[in-house]
Amino acid sequence: MKNILVTGGAGFIGSAFVRRAVQKYPNYRIVVLDKLTYAGNMDNLLPVQNAPNYRFERGDITHRETVERVLQAHQIDAIVNFAAESHVDRSILDPDAFINTDVVGVYTLLDTARQLGIQRLHHVSTDEVYGSIEQGFFREGDPLLPNSPYAASKAGGEMMLRAYQVTYGMHTTVTRGSNTFGPYQYPEKVVPFFITEALEDHPLPMYGDGMQVRDWLYVDDHCDAIDTVLHQGAPGTIYNIGGEHEMHNIDMTRFMLKTLGKPESLIHYVADRPGHDLRYALTNDKIRAELGWTPQHSFERAMEATVRWYQQNEWWWRKIKTGEYLDYYKRQYAARLAEA
Ligand code: NAD
Ligand code: TYD
Repeated sequence: MKNILVTGGAGFIGSAFVRRAVQKYPNYRIVVLDKLTYAGNMDNLLPVQNAPNYRFERGDITHRETVERVLQAHQIDAIVNFAAESHVDRSILDPDAFINTDVVGVYTLLDTARQLGIQRLHHVSTDEVYGSIEQGFFREGDPLLPNSPYAASKAGGEMMLRAYQVTYGMHTTVTRGSNTFGPYQYPEKVVPFFITEALEDHPLPMYGDGMQVRDWLYVDDHCDAIDTVLHQGAPGTIYNIGGEHEMHNIDMTRFMLKTLGKPESLIHYVADRPGHDLRYALTNDKIRAELGWTPQHSFERAMEATVRWYQQNEWWWRKIKTGEYLDYYKRQYAARLAEA
């Protein structure tokens, strides 16, 4: 592998992967292909913008001609696909873009790669494809029972990967990561949303009773696991990536507020998300046994570092919280908060 195409590399996890890969692999060329949707942000790539082994291409993974041109122009050997519509609440409001990018986009990448003889594609998926689990932990062989349009579209993308591996013998791998947090995360997901709202003393809209459980994975651990699977994963294999740190939403929020030095009175219980998954939980048994990977960051340290980053980088999130963001905020929260 020499030339790697990172789709969705201007988003949260994709940009963390790019910042790391550009440093770690000076002999690789890291090419980003990103549509720059509301979630894509060139500020996330500022630290690598002058690196000699980095290139940026703006484009849509659902456009075959674009994908073909980029794959050929940079003589790509392997694709790592982060590009997605990624927010559950937005998928409930407007599912269309999710089907396009998360299903048709994955198909377009696969089929264009196959036609050009590019064998290697790693796909970044999510634990949400399994649905919700009240007790125990999801394993890679469990059935997929996605509950939100987002989760269903990610499961659809995975099915295309499976078909291309079985039918055409492509070397595909899939990782199913759990809830990821860290610097540069678009402030719609709960962690950066609550931190930045709390910094402004705004109310934090907690869905339902706040007793839902998520497994928290630090972004550097997530990227390290993807890198490990990209280099060592067996063809056609799926790996869970869990943070091994489950928390109720209310406890996670209390810890964050304590770290920020803000009062719990900012928490407002609001109408629940429709179809809200109660609990996500994964076992890392497979990736640990087969590839020797485990998460390296403690939740507490990583959350403290994350809180500090948003405190120290207002320039980054204040420009986002304008325009389209405020329209979305109104649609998602105005009625909920007014009723609370
Ligand atoms: P994000 O929303 O921050 O970034 C998505 C990126 O994809 C953006 O830069 C956007 O511009 C780009 N993009 C969207 N549609 C595109 C298209 N049609 N063509 C090209 N680029 C397009 O997402 P994220 O949180 O960084 O997630 C990255 C991946 O990881 C996604 O596939 C997501 O499903 C998966 N994942 C996320 C989490 C999480 O907690 N954030 C957990 C597990 C898995
Ligand atoms: P989120 O960050 O959207 O990730 P996901 O839905 O993919 O797990 O939400 C994490 C948890 O936080 C989820 O149980 C929903 C809850 N949540 C709230 O209570 N209020 C909010 O405003 C948001 C965005 C999420």
